[in-house]
Amino acid sequence: MYPLTPLPYAHDALEPVISKTTLETHHGKHHAKYVEVLNQLVGDEESRPLEDVVRSAEPGSKLFNNAGQAWNHGFFWQCMKPGGSKPSGELKDVIASSFGGLDQFREAFITEGATHFASGWAWLVREGGGLKVISTHDADTAITRPQCAPLLVCDVWEHAYYLDFKNDRKGFLDAWFDQLVNWDFVAERLAAAEAGEPGWRYPQA
Ligand SMILES: [Fe+2]
Repeated sequence: MYPLTPLPYAHDALEPVISKTTLETHHGKHHAKYVEVLNQLVGDEESRPLEDVVRSAEPGSKLFNNAGQAWNHGFFWQCMKPGGSKPSGELKDVIASSFGGLDQFREAFITEGATHFASGWAWLVREGGGLKVISTHDADTAITRPQCAPLLVCDVWEHAYYLDFKNDRKGFLDAWFDQLVNWDFVAERLAAAEAGEPGWRYPQA
């Protein structure tokens, strides 16, 4: 069994970028439904880490889609905090060496998310020892890629922003990047990846 991970902030804490209504629906309906279907598919006795379920499921299958979406959303909630923060220290240096600077990374990340066709996710990952910006389609997730540690993700499914930004996905990404990114969480993920430690784990029920 897998739980619906609780939000680490109040439903209205990410306003005005993400409205209370959007967050209530996104977490309480969308994420909750993925978890509900996942639990129906695996049964009450399932005890494997969710990461193992995702990695062993047939890509595109109902199990993969619901397990992947459950995991991606659990990770996504951790990537945000009210008011955001700024990268510093090792993280800032690695972003500078990988992308040329925070502004260049910001542009690369937002462009990846804004131009990603249809539903999916925009990621910052550490892969093969370097940082990369990638996107995945639908329920696809960075944790199935070899030697890939996700550091940051933004949900670019329409349900993430349509009530607040209509069709302006880039507007959502601009505001999200500047006002909501939890850089402390990103720095923790980078430090763990550099140390060869396991990445963020979805909680067990
Ligand atoms: Fe979503």
